[in-house]
Amino acid sequence: MVALGCDHGGYELMQEVKKFLEQKGIAYKDFGTDSTASTDYPIYAKLVGRAVQSGECEKGILICGTGIGISITANKMKGIRCALCHDVFSAEATRQHNDANVLAMGGRVVGAGLALKIVDTFLSTPFSNEERHKRRIAQMEE
Ligand code: RB5
Repeated sequence: MVALGCDHGGYELMQEVKKFLEQKGIAYKDFGTDSTASTDYPIYAKLVGRAVQSGECEKGILICGTGIGISITANKMKGIRCALCHDVFSAEATRQHNDANVLAMGGRVVGAGLALKIVDTFLSTPFSNEERHKRRIAQMEE
């Protein structure tokens, strides 16, 4: 299950992400927002972060205008490793090296074509499970 959250700046791109996940048969839980009306991105970052922290959802996807505010908020939550990615290489590397559990993107930064490739890569790339990466991830929480 993938937890989804966005503000008004990410709403339109999130509709594309939802269609893509439905086509792929990937289950998601939508934590809002549900329109382009102005709202506050920390609300959705925290809802998605809590769903991942609790294990209700294995991964999360967060979208605001830039991806910055929503990723900063998510990264303040224990156990959340939120990667702001606007290219496919970073999406692959952050899964392999950081075991990132939340992807953030900016709806005003990337087009849907690239964003969906980033989502696909993020969700399909496993963690490398290499010792050096496990050690570094453990150090993040110290
Ligand atoms: C909203 O205007 C915008 O500030 C927000 O979507 C995001 O870009 C914040 O980092």
